[in-house]
Amino acid sequence: MKRRDFIKSVVTLASLAPIASNKAIAGLSEENNNSERKNKMKVIVLNGSPRTNFNTAQLLKQAQKGAESVGAEVEYYDLVKINYKGCMSCFACKLKGSKTNGLCAIRDDLRPILEKVLQADAVIIGTPVYFSYATGMFRNLIERMLFAPLRYMKDEKTCLKRKIPVGLIYTMNCPENLAQQIGYDKTLGSDENAFKRVFGHCEVLNSYDTYQFTDYSKYDCDMFDEAHKKQVHETQFPKDLEKAFDLGKRLAVLKLD
Ligand SMILES: Cc1cc2nc3c(=O)[nH]c(=O)nc-3n(C[C@H](O)[C@H](O)[C@H](O)COP(=O)(O)O)c2cc1C
Repeated sequence: MKRRDFIKSVVTLASLAPIASNKAIAGLSEENNNSERKNKMKVIVLNGSPRTNFNTAQLLKQAQKGAESVGAEVEYYDLVKINYKGCMSCFACKLKGSKTNGLCAIRDDLRPILEKVLQADAVIIGTPVYFSYATGMFRNLIERMLFAPLRYMKDEKTCLKRKIPVGLIYTMNCPENLAQQIGYDKTLGSDENAFKRVFGHCEVLNSYDTYQFTDYSKYDCDMFDEAHKKQVHETQFPKDLEKAFDLGKRLAVLKLD
């Protein structure tokens, strides 16, 4: 389908077809209010790394365990297994009278997950750093997750009726001091600021100097000292795993106004 036709179909869906799904959307809006939500905490964990069991995933799985340790029900998704694109700039979410209520109008495999995010008590998203930013998968996700509820109004930053705590976990090859020199606080900080603006709360956990391969001898990479990498992996990474557990535990029960 050509992009123009795609946008036309999405805008049509969002402005006319929502009649068919108004009930679901109204339900979502009510769910978004504290009074209507059920007792069991729900946490959504999203892995933005293409590797489903490496650094980022291991930290996210600890965050999941942390949330479960305080009784939360956790749903974990590897974004690499989900078929979706980023924002298509259809602006269905910004139409006057739009009934999208913070949910992106594009109907694809990401939509049910975005729906769950809007009903969750907390969301934890992890990504490796690729060329100083989060992965493309992560960016495509947040374009959809953040732009739909973001309001273009002077006095209203978000259409969400309550704050949803978000945890962001970044893993990177860079050691901490180099990350600061290069300015990762700025490149990665823009995600944190966007989540604070739209979801109302965001905490970040950085895991530096990660172990990129299980066997360095197989790769052309004499820039890195394997012994040092191994040492960080054995001494610092376990501490990061504990921090990830604590993040999940804390965010699952965090009460924001
Ligand atoms: C395409 C690509 C680009 C990367 N760019 C950076 C970078 O700019 N800065 C950095 O510190 N690490 C970079 N890395 C390393 C990863 O961020 C790091 O190994 C991360 O922990 C991998 O996460 P994973 O184990 O979950 O796959 C890059 C890795 C890849 C594959």
